[in-house]
Amino acid sequence: MPERIAWILQRRSIREFQNRDVEKEKIKLLLQAAMAAPSARNRQPWHFVVVTDEEKRTQLADLHPSGKIIRRAPLTIVVCGDVEASRNTQTGLCYWTQDCSAAMENLLLAAPALDLGAVWLGVHPTEDREEAVMEVLKLPEGIKPLGLACVGYPGEKKEPNTYYREDKVHYEEFRS
Ligand SMILES: Cc1cc2nc3c(=O)[nH]c(=O)nc-3n(C[C@H](O)[C@H](O)[C@H](O)COP(=O)(O)O)c2cc1C
Repeated sequence: MPERIAWILQRRSIREFQNRDVEKEKIKLLLQAAMAAPSARNRQPWHFVVVTDEEKRTQLADLHPSGKIIRRAPLTIVVCGDVEASRNTQTGLCYWTQDCSAAMENLLLAAPALDLGAVWLGVHPTEDREEAVMEVLKLPEGIKPLGLACVGYPGEKKEPNTYYREDKVHYEEFRS
């Protein structure tokens, strides 16, 4: 198997972390990977809020059902989208969730290349959670939080995923 494919299969959600901060250089590389994602019309409507401050992380932890993971991770990167920036003026449709999900996935895939582990914690489309995150991070109106990436040096090891299923693949047309 090509090494780059094997790398993708190795992405797993890491929810236990060592008590060790993530270096600034690595944070920058994660963000570079995230911003290399494809986006509709190349609008790149994303913003990233990097949270390392313990008090802020506690505030985020208090509002999320997976809060204990936020508490354990030294770093949370909140992937946000500028709704209007992502709007296609001809159709009126917004693509910020697709664009920001691609950025989030790039970030998650980049983490193991830096000896880091990460997990995606959902925010959008749970409205009350979105509002709570917006308040804690002082997000302006129109900048929506897609999700949180909790990142750190892994405190657990996971096997590469084995999710491939032949019955999910359809050739030429859908056949069940
Ligand atoms: C949109 C989205 C929201 C998620 N929210 C949570 C969450 O709130 N808490 C959590 O522990 N994991 C969350 N996850 C991670 C999934 O549980 C995880 O990806 C899935 O169980 C598969 O495991 P794997 O990532 O190790 O392959 C979320 C993943 C996605 C894509």
